[in-house]
Amino acid sequence: MDLLKQLLSHTSVRKFAKDKLSPRLKNQLLCAAQSGSSSNFVQAYSIIEVTDPQKLAAIEKLANGFGYIKDAGAFYVFVADLNKHAQILTQHQQPLEALKNEESFIVSVVDTTIAAQTMAVYAESVGLGICYIGGIRNDLFKMAELLELPEYTFPLFGLSVGYPAGKNEVKPRLPVEDIQHTDSYQPLSSQQIDAYDQLMEDYYAGRTTNAADADWSKKMLAHFHEPRRTHTTEFLKKQGFEF
Ligand SMILES: Cc1cc2nc3c(=O)[nH]c(=O)nc-3n(C[C@H](O)[C@H](O)[C@H](O)COP(=O)(O)O)c2cc1C
Repeated sequence: MDLLKQLLSHTSVRKFAKDKLSPRLKNQLLCAAQSGSSSNFVQAYSIIEVTDPQKLAAIEKLANGFGYIKDAGAFYVFVADLNKHAQILTQHQQPLEALKNEESFIVSVVDTTIAAQTMAVYAESVGLGICYIGGIRNDLFKMAELLELPEYTFPLFGLSVGYPAGKNEVKPRLPVEDIQHTDSYQPLSSQQIDAYDQLMEDYYAGRTTNAADADWSKKMLAHFHEPRRTHTTEFLKKQGFEF
C-alpha cells in the first residue's frame, strides 16, 4: 500500500487475535525501531518485551488495558534510557551532571518516541495493529519494580502489537490548516475550534463502537481538569534525575 494511504488509515487496535508474533517478525519490528534518527546518536532507549504472564496481568491492571495487553501478539515497554550512558561516564570518572538534567531527559524521551513510532509504522505496513499504552505511567514505581528498572531510566509507554481482530473508524484529526503555521505562530480562532468540535461530535455520535456524546473541547476539558500522575516528579527524582 502507498505509505501515505497507510498512515492515513491508522487507528489504534484494542482487540487482537490471540496469535503471538513469530521471533522473525519481532526481530524485524526491533530493527525497524532502531532505524530511526537519534539525537547526537545517543540511542537513549531500551525496549523491553514483556512475556511473563504475571507481569502482563499486573501491567494490564495498572494500565487499565484489559484485553489488549496480555492478548496482544507482543507487548513492549519503551524505556527512555540514560543508564547505559551513565555507565560509560562512571567508567571514565566523568561527572553525571549533564546526564541528569531536563535536556538529556527530553533527548531520551524524543529518541524513545521516534523508535516506537517507527516500529508502529512498520507493524502497520505488514498488517499488524498497534496501541500505545501510556497507562503504564499510572504507577511508575510499580512499573520500575516489575521491570527492575535502574537509575536514569523512565518507562515512557507500552506498545501492544498484534493481529487485529477488529478495527475502529479512523478518528478525524484537526484540519491540516489548524496545525500548519507559516513564519509565526497563529492561535486557533473560536470558529476553527467550533468547526472541529462539530466534526468530532458527529464522529463520536456515529461511530460503530463506543458511540458517545463528546467533542474535542469536551475531551480536552476533561483531560486537563486536574493534574494527572502527580507522582511523576517524585519518581524522576528517585531515578536520579535533577530538574
Ligand atoms: C503516548 C500515547 C499513549 C497512549 N496511551 C493509551 C492508553 O493507555 N490506552 C489506550 O487505550 N490508548 C492509548 N493511546 C492511544 C490514543 O488514545 C489514540 O492514539 C488516540 O485516541 C487517537 O486514536 P487513533 O490512534 O485510533 O487514531 C495512547 C497514545 C499515545 C500516543
